[in-house]
Amino acid sequence: MEMSETPMGTVEIAPNVFWVGAKDPNRRLFDGLIPLPHGTSYNAYLIIGSEKTVLIDSVNPGFEDELVDKISQHADPGKIDYIVMNHAEPDHASALMHMLSLAKGAKLVTSAKGKEAAMMYFHVPEDRIMVVDEGSTINLGGKTLKFVDAPWLHWPETMFTYLQEDGVLFPCDFYGSHIAYGEFFADEFGEGHTLELAKLYFAEIMMPFRKPAMKAIEKTKQLNPKVIAPSHGVMYRRPELIVDAYTDWAGEKMRKKVLIAYVSMWGRTEHMVKALREALVHKGIETQVFDLTVTGIGEVAKQLIDSPVVVIGAPTVLGGVHPVAAYAALLTKTLRAPTKYAAVLSSHGWSGGAVRQLGEILGGTKIEMLGVVDAKGPASDDDISKVLQLADDIEKKLNELS
Ligand code: FEO
Repeated sequence: MEMSETPMGTVEIAPNVFWVGAKDPNRRLFDGLIPLPHGTSYNAYLIIGSEKTVLIDSVNPGFEDELVDKISQHADPGKIDYIVMNHAEPDHASALMHMLSLAKGAKLVTSAKGKEAAMMYFHVPEDRIMVVDEGSTINLGGKTLKFVDAPWLHWPETMFTYLQEDGVLFPCDFYGSHIAYGEFFADEFGEGHTLELAKLYFAEIMMPFRKPAMKAIEKTKQLNPKVIAPSHGVMYRRPELIVDAYTDWAGEKMRKKVLIAYVSMWGRTEHMVKALREALVHKGIETQVFDLTVTGIGEVAKQLIDSPVVVIGAPTVLGGVHPVAAYAALLTKTLRAPTKYAAVLSSHGWSGGAVRQLGEILGGTKIEMLGVVDAKGPASDDDISKVLQLADDIEKKLNELS
């Protein structure tokens, strides 16, 4: 399939199918939570059939004019017939009313839950909305849109749109990545580099929704698209790259790996972390250690995808857990990481509290606590013996998993 970038920055990804989105390299945070070291993009797509013209999703607030300029290179924005809303989150949907006001005859096409969201968030009049569900089609003239039910990726109303004749799948957030570089396709950007960033994105956005993700992956495999065109980051003209990766990540394909995330004030917790790391490495167990004071929380989230064991290292501060470690533990719970086992290494001076509070944070999960070492002051020989015992216990559990 031929794909080419036009002089004005749109990209033809199939005949009369154009990327008309916006790149946002300066954005550094998403949802007030997720770090974006490489910015992101809001990918919208224009499809021109012989009879009807469609816009697939839109852009983040502030990029409306850029979207309209790009559409105008290929079609009259006022003559758009359908605006598909695969997802109602504002980074894709907040420009919809702007587009509907330009294209006065256009219908907003979305799922039943998408209709509720469009009316609630964007005050789209009910008579401008056309509801579609699994298997619904729209004929554009030589091109057919087919809609795929794909809820909870990552809000309840999400769906995919598939352009049958050209084999292009538009899954909105799913299969996305936060990348705002010049390259548009994974093979241009570098597939290895793409997967690293896609994995980071999966951890932060899709990891809590692994079950609906697996259903959507199966549907993708049945469609067997030639191109996957998500609404963030690069597109895939070798779709199996991202589909296979998602199959591993959503399918909880674990490594024989231990993730240790720690913070240490005076090196006492760190001393136990180092002892545990050394023992695990000696046993040939992949061990990734992150000092939370210098590691972005996104990197920890990414490692949670395939780490069956997570060890939190944190001292007691003012009767509770060090807040930086509390954040890491809460993130593990919030992202519903597939963690099987956890352990805590801690130290305290005149009172404990870190271990109790970490237990409270991780409470209500299916994570089994393998062990706790809570040293009073610097770790004693007895404390280090407990750390070494913990390494043995971790090895045993990992062997049972494999
Ligand atoms: Fe890219 Fe869930 O919005």
